[in-house]
Amino acid sequence: MRNILFYFLFIALLFSSCRSGADGDFPGREFIPEMAHSISFQPNLYNYYHLNTWGGEGEYYGFTLPRTPVEGTLPLGQAGLYKAIDDAEAAEIAARLQGFSMSGSVPYYYEDTEEDRQRAMDEIIDNPFPITTAGLAKGKKLYDIYCGICHGDKADGNGFIVRDDGGVYPAQPTNLLSEEFIEASNGRFYHSIMRGRNVMGAYNDKLSFEERWQVIHYIRSLQAEEMGVVYNEEENTLNDIDVPGAIWLQ
Ligand code: HEC
Repeated sequence: MRNILFYFLFIALLFSSCRSGADGDFPGREFIPEMAHSISFQPNLYNYYHLNTWGGEGEYYGFTLPRTPVEGTLPLGQAGLYKAIDDAEAAEIAARLQGFSMSGSVPYYYEDTEEDRQRAMDEIIDNPFPITTAGLAKGKKLYDIYCGICHGDKADGNGFIVRDDGGVYPAQPTNLLSEEFIEASNGRFYHSIMRGRNVMGAYNDKLSFEERWQVIHYIRSLQAEEMGVVYNEEENTLNDIDVPGAIWLQ
């Protein structure tokens, strides 16, 4: 019986201490303020609360602004460079990374202009990733999500959105299996993903650096299927640019 009494007392106490008194825009009183309002400041998040933060509001605002990384900071995924014993080893690691960082942010120096599109097509030749079974599987998954709806599962330009049973999309998506696209440089594909093309939007914010290149590998594998040639981890008889992963693993 006593236990039950205590229990009721405890519940009553709980309700009274949390009684909010919230009304309209007034959120009520907080029982333990720092549980709702972090007492730490966080980068890029403005969460000022007068009771629990250091300094005044203006000072707090200064804390939340992005800052320049300290000198010598390396992008995530490039830590190997730091460990290199000399310039030659650093250059060798940099070549292997091909600008790739785990954060997926790799600079792209081609604007959305016809001139830069041409330049991208002429200058971007190699796919920095070898052809691998895992990469092709990843590429297929992403292609089916982001490209297949328009360009079709087979990349023949006949996606659901333009087929009779689908929607009424006004523009014909490019047939990526045509001779023109089999011969096109990797840069033509990469630039389309980065900048879009006419009515097609860009996918640079949807796909990371590596993902873009795996999608391109997958498109190449569809081209190979169309041509009756081979494009996989073991062998590539579609072109003499893209490198089968097995060669790297030897
Ligand atoms: C909403 C529909 C749509 C989606 C989704 C889409 N595309 Fe396109 N794409 C188009 C259309 C339409 C064109 C033709 C644009 C033109 O030539 O005017 C095109 C053109 C292209 C071209 C040819 C560009 C050139 O140089 O002529 C490539 C390559 C391409 N798309 C790749 C992709 C890839 C890779 C994806 C997925 C990441 C994708 N597209 C997603 C509609 C789409």
